[in-house]
Amino acid sequence: MPSEHEYGYFTEVDSADVVVARNKNAKDERLRQVMEVITRKLHEAVKEIEPTQEEWFRAILFLTQTGQICNEWRQEYILLSDILGVSMLVDAINNRKPSGASESTVLGPFHVADAPELPMGADICLDQKGEPMFVHGQIRDTAGNPIAGAKIDVWQANDEGFYDVQQKGIQPDFNLRGVFRTGADGRYWFRGVKPKYYPIPDDGPVGKLLGALGRHPYRPAHLHYIISADGFEQLTTHIFDPDDPYINSDAVFGVKKSLLAEFRKVDDAAAAKKVEVEAPFYDVEFDFVLSPKKK
Ligand code: BEZ
Ligand code: FE
Repeated sequence: MPSEHEYGYFTEVDSADVVVARNKNAKDERLRQVMEVITRKLHEAVKEIEPTQEEWFRAILFLTQTGQICNEWRQEYILLSDILGVSMLVDAINNRKPSGASESTVLGPFHVADAPELPMGADICLDQKGEPMFVHGQIRDTAGNPIAGAKIDVWQANDEGFYDVQQKGIQPDFNLRGVFRTGADGRYWFRGVKPKYYPIPDDGPVGKLLGALGRHPYRPAHLHYIISADGFEQLTTHIFDPDDPYINSDAVFGVKKSLLAEFRKVDDAAAAKKVEVEAPFYDVEFDFVLSPKKK
């Protein structure tokens, strides 16, 4: 007589239970729990889809190619997570804000950790290309008080939709990025250029998948911010141009209503002179509210 099989034989019906039981001695309880959920959902999906062997192999090939295109600069799995809406979901779960606090959105792959700290008001556009833009606002707490000493790390694409790191040797290093620190009034201001929409990197498997799904790869024009201050939760977010052609169909689902800014065109030489730009320019005013540090 053969002995009783460890947790029952593997069958189509019992498949998930059998695999989950095999993990019961996992050294890390969180890992065991995560693998249980993933195993159950994955088996459920496979049972609903009923893939052919050929379809399953195509899925494996897609994941293989997704890994193969990754390098120091290219992270195709993050792009996959972005276009599946998973990056935004993880962001939402980890950044539940008290009412009145500014909302977060995805970091994206183009942040540079060592951008220069600049005097307030500096022009971050180092090559004078594009339509001038004056960006300003205030950093406050949820009670409405200005936050002094807040660090504002900003970066943006240029007027053609490229970040400096995508055009090394074409754009100056650190073009359209800078770090600013607020004074006692919590205010910030700097000069840049009106950004343009751009495609997420779409020459790899994720771009092919978007094409096959009848989706475009574009992100609407935006400015990135990371705002930090002692005693407050760090805020990673963007502000968006509501008139952008892709504002309602961001490829990575990063747009939130509360993050729509107004890009107001000002054709007035005196107003331009006051903020040290050429007319016409875009005036963008946006305030941020930081939530108190969680205990
Ligand atoms: C970005 O906004 O920089 C970005 C976000 C997600 C994917 C690609 C780019
Ligand atoms: Fe971006």
